[in-house]
Amino acid sequence: MLSTLTSRAGRVLAFSVFVILGLIWYTSSFKYYDAASAPTTFYAGNGYNKSHPIDALMDTAETDLDELLTTESQDLATAAERYRARRGRHPPPGFAEWFEFAKDKDSLVIEDFFDQIYHDLTPYWALEPKELRRQAKSIPTRISIRNKKAILNTDEPRNWMDSWHDLVSKLEGRLPDLDMPINVMDETRLVVPWETVNEYVLKEQAGRTMPNANHVISEYMSLTQLDQEIAEAYDPEFAIPPEGGYWQMAKLGCPPGSPARNNTLPMIDFGTPPWEFDNFERMSYHGYVGNFTLAKDPCVRPEMQVLHGTFLEPISVSTSNKLLPLFGGSKLPMNNEILLPPAMYWAQNEHYSGGEKEHGGEWEDKMNKAVWRGAATGGRAREPNWTGFQRHRFMSMVNATSVQQAEQNNSHGINFRLPNYADYKLNGDGFVTQLLEQHTDTGFNHLVCTPYNEADPTCPYLDPYFQLAEGMPMKKMYNYKYLPDLDGNSFSGRFRGFMLSTSLPIKATIYNEWHDSRLVPWVHFVPMDTTYIDFYGIMAYFLGGRDSVARKIALAGKAWSEKVLRREDMQIYTYRLLLEYARICDDRREYLGYTNDILGS
Ligand SMILES: *[C@@H]1O[C@H](CO)[C@@H](O)[C@H](O)[C@H]1NC(C)=O
Ligand SMILES: *[C@@H]1O[C@H](CO)[C@@H](O)[C@H](O)[C@H]1NC(C)=O
Ligand SMILES: *[C@@H]1O[C@H](CO)[C@@H](O)[C@H](O)[C@H]1NC(C)=O
Ligand SMILES: *[C@@H]1O[C@H](CO)[C@@H](O)[C@H](O)[C@H]1NC(C)=O
Ligand SMILES: *[C@@H]1O[C@H](CO)[C@@H](O)[C@H](O)[C@H]1NC(C)=O
Ligand SMILES: *[C@@H]1O[C@H](CO)[C@@H](O)[C@H](O)[C@H]1NC(C)=O
Repeated sequence: MLSTLTSRAGRVLAFSVFVILGLIWYTSSFKYYDAASAPTTFYAGNGYNKSHPIDALMDTAETDLDELLTTESQDLATAAERYRARRGRHPPPGFAEWFEFAKDKDSLVIEDFFDQIYHDLTPYWALEPKELRRQAKSIPTRISIRNKKAILNTDEPRNWMDSWHDLVSKLEGRLPDLDMPINVMDETRLVVPWETVNEYVLKEQAGRTMPNANHVISEYMSLTQLDQEIAEAYDPEFAIPPEGGYWQMAKLGCPPGSPARNNTLPMIDFGTPPWEFDNFERMSYHGYVGNFTLAKDPCVRPEMQVLHGTFLEPISVSTSNKLLPLFGGSKLPMNNEILLPPAMYWAQNEHYSGGEKEHGGEWEDKMNKAVWRGAATGGRAREPNWTGFQRHRFMSMVNATSVQQAEQNNSHGINFRLPNYADYKLNGDGFVTQLLEQHTDTGFNHLVCTPYNEADPTCPYLDPYFQLAEGMPMKKMYNYKYLPDLDGNSFSGRFRGFMLSTSLPIKATIYNEWHDSRLVPWVHFVPMDTTYIDFYGIMAYFLGGRDSVARKIALAGKAWSEKVLRREDMQIYTYRLLLEYARICDDRREYLGYTNDILGS
């Protein structure tokens, strides 16, 4: 998590490391899990001591966070120095004002927090500024800055554009001229083949310079003159998936030789329901997420093509394999969008946040349960492929009836497989069903049938497996201790609200967001795999005499989010991002920079 990759080149390396470590982990897997010594009950809290893998994961994560905190920059000179050391360039013009803005808002300035910006923007250095500007102006849904005014351009009223416009407007007086195209779809839009991105990243590296401070320019170019010029519109050639679905498009964003590109690993049998969970066991830390960045990456999780709606059948796909500037709120690791804080986090929308003021009451007053409500989204979950969809899988795996059926059926349900209980030290004798009955409150409030009918929440082919439940506003969910968070059509949109609440988020996703390098899994929230095979182990750990540990993570996550996920922090991130973006789109970008700290003015 902390070491978010700044280049695709890094991925190849990370990947080979994964293969080697994977093998080591695999052979040593579950060694200290001996079914014979498994405790008979978790409720007594016996059997748990420091040797639980979650304790080890928490220890490591706390050390990572401590290290991160030592890199906070207290003053501008240090921040500029850290910038040059990490980015290999002078900071962009406006950096001093940006730093002052951040400090005025009591922000922690930690250079790693901005890694995502550089990961996202680096390949664009390979394209000519003029071409980037032409591309940007060809996308009808965009926000422009001209003479310190933020202008909203859109072909028709679009979801969330107003919210993003509001975010940028708050910064308009501080920003140079620019055009930022925005993806208004739920689904992501750019998959540039890995080889191309790699070439672009290498080109940026080769051209990276730190010109003598005396030659550096601090004024961005004005775009008003250029607005008179008529440039030929750029066609990104957005396309629908070929046969084989979105996976065939998406996997091209993965490194050559990665499991996603290597059709042979693992064997995916489309003829049977998705029971491919071994891959996670191999990369996990004794069955739990050890490296969230790795575990959520579909490039190393080819089984996601049958375990996630994004790959099974998204509602809409319109994907370009060219690199052009396009901003959005979330993306898959193989996508190339430029991440912004999601509009739904900026909007003061109760549906996604539970309200700005509602964060839940005291831990001790909450129900000792995991709660989940929502619609069965994820894509078009038709018969028979609905069995691969993530929300459906979670709902069945927390359903005591379907789990009991699976226990009597060689661990197989219609759309899930149970973990080997012994691996998680779970008692086989009705322990899991009891845990689910007593400690979960979950249900779909709409089955999102195909064909879709908003007015009818039922669905003939799903009704036998899912009973509809009353919807629940987010602020009511905060009356429960545990908050599993699952992807929908893309990222869930609830996570910021969950983090700021007094309850404990248990997060599973394959999507990346702007905040990824500022949150530390196992310190600020509990990471869960998208197979959900670790869910029972996680719940048994906390319920088995570790209530105070759950409370500690819930409150640490809340306190941390109040420092790094505030609306101010979204502004600070966006401000920094747009200074960098404007520089890349500027004809004199090689010479643009902030060097007053060196010149001593
Ligand atoms: C608890 O720790 C002790 C060593 O301190 C070890 O012998 C024992 O097996 C552990 N118990 C469990 C259930 O892991
Ligand atoms: C890719 O598949 C080949 C078999 O076709 C296998 O030998 C190789 O190890 C695989 N590579 C990776 C990185 O898994
Ligand atoms: C986690 O995985 C990512 C990439 O998959 C890698 O870059 C990173 O170094 C890993 N982190 C640790 C602590 O191993
Ligand atoms: C989804 O279902 C259709 C039949 O309706 C089938 O042809 C297709 O292969 C399935 N897709 C996947 C990814 O399993
Ligand atoms: C029992 O397992 C089989 C596969 O082994 C699966 O197709 C079936 O749906 C399962 N039955 C139930 C009731 O979950
Ligand atoms: C739980 O599973 C059973 C069997 O599949 C199903 O009849 C029931 O409706 C499910 N309950 C919920 C809340 O989805």
